[in-house]
Amino acid sequence: MAQRHKRFEVLEQRPVNQDGFVTEWVEAGLMAMGSPNDPKPSVKVADGKIVEMDGRGRDEMDFIEIFIADYGINAALAEEMMAKKSVDIARMIVDINVPRGDIIKVFSGLTPAKMAEVMDYLNVVEMMMGIQKMRARRTPANQAHITNLQDNPVLMAADAAEATMYGFAEIETTVAVFNYGPMNALALLIGGQVGRPGVLSQDALEESIELQLGMRGLTAYAETVSVYGTENVFVDGDDTPWSKSFLASAYASRGLKMRFTSGTGAEVQMAYAEGKSMLYLEIKCIMLTKAAGVQGLQNGSISCIGVPAGVPGGIRAVAAENLVAMCMDLESASGNDQTFSHSDMRRTSRLLMQMLPGTDFICSGYSGVPNYDNMFAGSNVDIDDIDDWLVIQRDLRVDGGLKPASEEQIVAIRNKAARAIQAVFEELGLPRITDEEVEAATYAHGSKDMPARDKVQDTKGAQEMLKRGITGVDVVKALAKRGFTDVAEAVLGIQKQRVSGDYLHTSAILDDDFNVIAAVNDLNDYSGPGTGYRLEGDRWTQLADIRQAIRPEDI
Ligand code: 5AD
Ligand code: CA
Repeated sequence: MAQRHKRFEVLEQRPVNQDGFVTEWVEAGLMAMGSPNDPKPSVKVADGKIVEMDGRGRDEMDFIEIFIADYGINAALAEEMMAKKSVDIARMIVDINVPRGDIIKVFSGLTPAKMAEVMDYLNVVEMMMGIQKMRARRTPANQAHITNLQDNPVLMAADAAEATMYGFAEIETTVAVFNYGPMNALALLIGGQVGRPGVLSQDALEESIELQLGMRGLTAYAETVSVYGTENVFVDGDDTPWSKSFLASAYASRGLKMRFTSGTGAEVQMAYAEGKSMLYLEIKCIMLTKAAGVQGLQNGSISCIGVPAGVPGGIRAVAAENLVAMCMDLESASGNDQTFSHSDMRRTSRLLMQMLPGTDFICSGYSGVPNYDNMFAGSNVDIDDIDDWLVIQRDLRVDGGLKPASEEQIVAIRNKAARAIQAVFEELGLPRITDEEVEAATYAHGSKDMPARDKVQDTKGAQEMLKRGITGVDVVKALAKRGFTDVAEAVLGIQKQRVSGDYLHTSAILDDDFNVIAAVNDLNDYSGPGTGYRLEGDRWTQLADIRQAIRPEDI
């Protein structure tokens, strides 16, 4: 171009133009919804078995389709529900006079292609209406990532405490360096219970170590058990729907909460999308999760968010995949985790799809640490966004699962968590944590503010924990011996859940007194204005009371 328009020169410098965009490319699966290659909905049932699904007979089905046909669809209802017009089902979702339970029943008899067609009738506001009505738990909640670049255990415990004081109901970690796994689990177990008794924690690791840590009571749930929408992607990972179901049962049988993970864009990224739309493939993952008997799903593209976000209507498809999970009566941890945009406006608009209607976990990974310390590759929102989040909750009178906390409270809780892990390390014979480190962790913004630790000793210590078979009970004893009685009781409370198993119910979280809040005793009963979850009473007072507000007594 000979001469540049000055406005376009300015636009090119805007954050949104650092993002990547592509046009639709059907063969590669770069299409959010409604690919011409998506099958047409159909079902045939014979002798109580699904013998045809979306145009394919049993001999043409791949292993995902067989698994779904056999365990993911109610064959007794399939023909009746498939006979309903897709537009009518879409209208039922937004109709406040149709109860949630009726929709669940309809969806139990639908095929993947039919669900995809139903979703295509909804615009994003209607999807949000649907999410408000269809999520399983009445009370919304939130989940945080707690990691750091150095796998520094003192900082990690302090960060966990801060996050749970803000109100995250689940916190999760992973590792910068693989060997640290057990130590990171320990940091979240202790720090999390310091900030708010009853919080659930997990550690995303290689499958067998993760399961071991869970069985030893160092974690309370598992989430990153991935499922995919095409057979080739499963085969690439040496897995099948049956192997994933087996792993799910291994967790549940030991009293550990667990959910699967999936999301639009994974099949494109693995180059096995078969030219199908992202949403159609994701619906197969959702149905597979249901078929495996798993209570919930982390979806909403998750780590693949850059893929749907690059195509037209992609963020709408992400809202649709959350809604489908809810219509299948699954717990929904609804994404808003991995970072996908340089634009604050774009990342907020993506967030509002789940934050305004409320989901079981609005973010399935709000970064409770600065993004440079986020070892899940950075989140859509990080700890530096916390005041924005709290103000948006207050502006719109929406419960995003978090509550304000003062600087004094945060400093005190961080210090307590750092001292608690210092004491436990000493009791368990793990590498020493100095008073200087406790002090640094109390006031740190991130790992750059921490003194360096001896990594050789720490990774050795972490491996020792595995060898010596350290369990949650050892942690309880250590805390009790050193006078952290309340923390010891809270960690013990988490161990007890493993025996009672009450928190295996759909969408279960624990309150401060270790009562289970789940879809059985807190079922979403939204049926229009004046019903369902309402942000009012003490909770509203608490959320409205941000520290920045000028009070009459200040003047
Ligand atoms: N599909 C399946 N699994 C996913 N994960 C993240 N995004 C997806 C997706 N779209 C899983 C991966 C990753 C973890 C954070 O969650 O296992 O390591
Ligand atoms: Ca997560």
